[in-house]
Amino acid sequence: MRKPAVTTVDIHPVLAERWSPRAFDATAVVKVDDLNAILEAGRWAPSAFNRQPWKFLVGHRGDENFAKLSGVLSGFNKEWAPRASVLIAANAITVDAEGNPIPSALFDLGLAVGYMSVEAHHRGYSIHQMAGFERDALKAALGLGDEVQPVVIIALGHAADVSTLENEALREREVAPRERKPLSEILL
Ligand SMILES: Cc1cc2nc3c(=O)[nH]c(=O)nc-3n(C[C@H](O)[C@H](O)[C@H](O)COP(=O)(O)O)c2cc1C
Repeated sequence: MRKPAVTTVDIHPVLAERWSPRAFDATAVVKVDDLNAILEAGRWAPSAFNRQPWKFLVGHRGDENFAKLSGVLSGFNKEWAPRASVLIAANAITVDAEGNPIPSALFDLGLAVGYMSVEAHHRGYSIHQMAGFERDALKAALGLGDEVQPVVIIALGHAADVSTLENEALREREVAPRERKPLSEILL
């Protein structure tokens, strides 16, 4: 399904066409080269002082990492996201080696995930980010230190037909038009 953004002026087609499905093909596999390219795109995102304050954990459907990540999802994310091919925990490093806070860490991580989203879409995959998960449970499951802040779990895979979603509310959301505030509203 396509859900292109309705833009006031043309933007790059990858940006306009990217969207966040919840219906994922539970039989699809992400090719190794494609997954590497998606991570590589994140690696090459800019960051303040080039600190690259991020760490990713990748789980493939059926493996231990995937089970850990799907096990901490909350709410309706538990219903749809386990059908994705890959789950990725995107974590920000919020404190540097000297113990000083990294104020831009979340922003930097967001840029990296943005780059990953674009590369994924360009390669025919979809990404759906989730903030809906149990942070403390994820930190415990992965043994993350205090300097590591889990921010989103990313579902990655091939979008499937909306009919594969069992939940009617999710089916309705899947086909709903994508909306944004008007440009005038986001300009000060
Ligand atoms: C940081 C972040 C957290 C999100 N958390 C969730 C989530 O927990 N569950 C979910 O279904 N969608 C989640 N989303 C997806 C957004 O709802 C979605 O990106 C937004 O509605 C815009 O839709 P689009 O990506 O299709 O343009 C999240 C997106 C972001 C960027």
